[in-house]
Amino acid sequence: MTEAIASLIGSSTWKALEVHAVTSRNLHLRDLFAQDPTRGGRLKVEAAGIYLDYSKNRITDETVKLLLQLAEESGLRSRIDAMFRGDKINVTEKRSVLHVALRAPVGEKILADGVDVVPLVHAVLDKMTAFSNSVRSGEWKGYTGKPIRNVVNIGIGGSDLGPVMAYEALRHYSQRDLTFRFVSNVDGTDIAEATRDLDAEETLFIVSSKTFTTLETMTNAHTARAWALETLKHTAAIARHFVAVSTNAEAVAKFGIDTANMFGFWDWVGGRYSMDSAIGLSTMIAIGPDNYRKLLDGFHEMDVHFRTAPFERNLPVLLGLLAIYNNNFLGAQSVAVLPYEQYLKRFPAYLQQLTMESNGKHVTLDGKEVEYQTGPIYWGEPGTNGQHSFYQLIHQGTRLIPCDFIAFAKPLNAIGRHHDILLANVFAQAEALAFGKTTQQVEAEGTPASLAPHRMFEGNRPSNTILLERLTPEALGKLVALYEHSVFVQGAIWNIDSFDQWGVELGKVLAQRIVPELEAPKEPSLTHDSSTNALIKQYRSIQRQRGSAK
Ligand code: F6P
Repeated sequence: MTEAIASLIGSSTWKALEVHAVTSRNLHLRDLFAQDPTRGGRLKVEAAGIYLDYSKNRITDETVKLLLQLAEESGLRSRIDAMFRGDKINVTEKRSVLHVALRAPVGEKILADGVDVVPLVHAVLDKMTAFSNSVRSGEWKGYTGKPIRNVVNIGIGGSDLGPVMAYEALRHYSQRDLTFRFVSNVDGTDIAEATRDLDAEETLFIVSSKTFTTLETMTNAHTARAWALETLKHTAAIARHFVAVSTNAEAVAKFGIDTANMFGFWDWVGGRYSMDSAIGLSTMIAIGPDNYRKLLDGFHEMDVHFRTAPFERNLPVLLGLLAIYNNNFLGAQSVAVLPYEQYLKRFPAYLQQLTMESNGKHVTLDGKEVEYQTGPIYWGEPGTNGQHSFYQLIHQGTRLIPCDFIAFAKPLNAIGRHHDILLANVFAQAEALAFGKTTQQVEAEGTPASLAPHRMFEGNRPSNTILLERLTPEALGKLVALYEHSVFVQGAIWNIDSFDQWGVELGKVLAQRIVPELEAPKEPSLTHDSSTNALIKQYRSIQRQRGSAK
């Protein structure tokens, strides 16, 4: 660990950034653009088919210089090298972090514990390809001889959010005579609604769980099994209607799934970094193996860019550093991710796990309490819908909410003027946020003075605009990898473990303790706090009033 990392806020660059943020407090984007007419064309990076315009951030050349200095001093370069080298950078779980190996081409060598993992990755990809082709062609038959028409992925967290996001994002490329459903919530409604109109004889379940122990997934998988057997009757049918994606062969076999139909991955793939591992099986069935390989190519192109581009032209590095500036020096508490692409409707939800499970940490790698804010809250919705909902707060509220606008120059569904109108809106929103509308402008339009404060826009609200050509499988891979690596950059500077998730454990353990207390036939003796005890009693009492109608 470098000295600079050991005392991030004590470092001269961190202090310089603090002073810089205070002294530039009165700078307005209006003035910055007026002073430098080349700003919009200058503060942008174009690489790997992505155009990132970061000129509408509250930054100057000095800010960028200091942020790049912070990256160098924090040892970001050696952290990147350590990840790609397979070092155990997930220190609390003593694991390598090698999602980059999932998209490495044949012939590249990436070692985990001295073993080249690239051939392992490609062996699984080949197995996924053969299986996907057999389902897509109708060659894979259900127990009663019918081809598969419905694919239901059962998983949660990284075993759901990536697959569902990718399916929605790439729906345009999907085989339309197959129906895809995604079941994640332990709320019985999820599986009930997902299966109610399906024919079990034509339905394939993919049970996706890295650990194969997750309560929600296992509960849903057992319910799906019972649902399938109601129609198929014979347990031998399970092998034709259930496959698994997991690292836990023993538990898969115990569930009754033939391990020949298990698609493996490894402990060096974190759940939220797994959408391009075998967890992407539903994606591959939907879009086909060729498109899936293009998705991987897109990821890989961004990996190469991240690893090799100089920091000042490095997309994930810049995106990460700007997020740090907004969070740690301008005090922004959240980031709005606003895709102007309906197919990306689940992208913000996917990013929530990626960013917040990764960087929602309160201690440094060596267990010391951090002295600065770590991961911001990520949220968002596709545009233009959000404009008629929460944008009011972004434009005129009291909080600073940096926005990432994502757009594609060419539509997948070119209908009349829709796309020009869509893109006009995304550009207009970034413009309005940055430049606002002064009281004088409002009054000059004839607004009465009393209404002027309500109708003026302060502006000076930061945003990035990420523009790509078209939403293709490659483009999606690049976009996801861009965010994966920008999360890494932020975590490296904050000196936290971005790859563990201990914060999800306590609730899981407590729920396991409460389940038998809710189900006990006799009143259990409760030893929780008085609030939890009262809630359990109230639940039991309402359940009793309903009698056996559970
Ligand atoms: O929510 C915690 C978590 O461990 C996530 O990190 C993970 O993506 C999810 O649960 C699902 O885990 P699994 O794939 O093991 O079922």
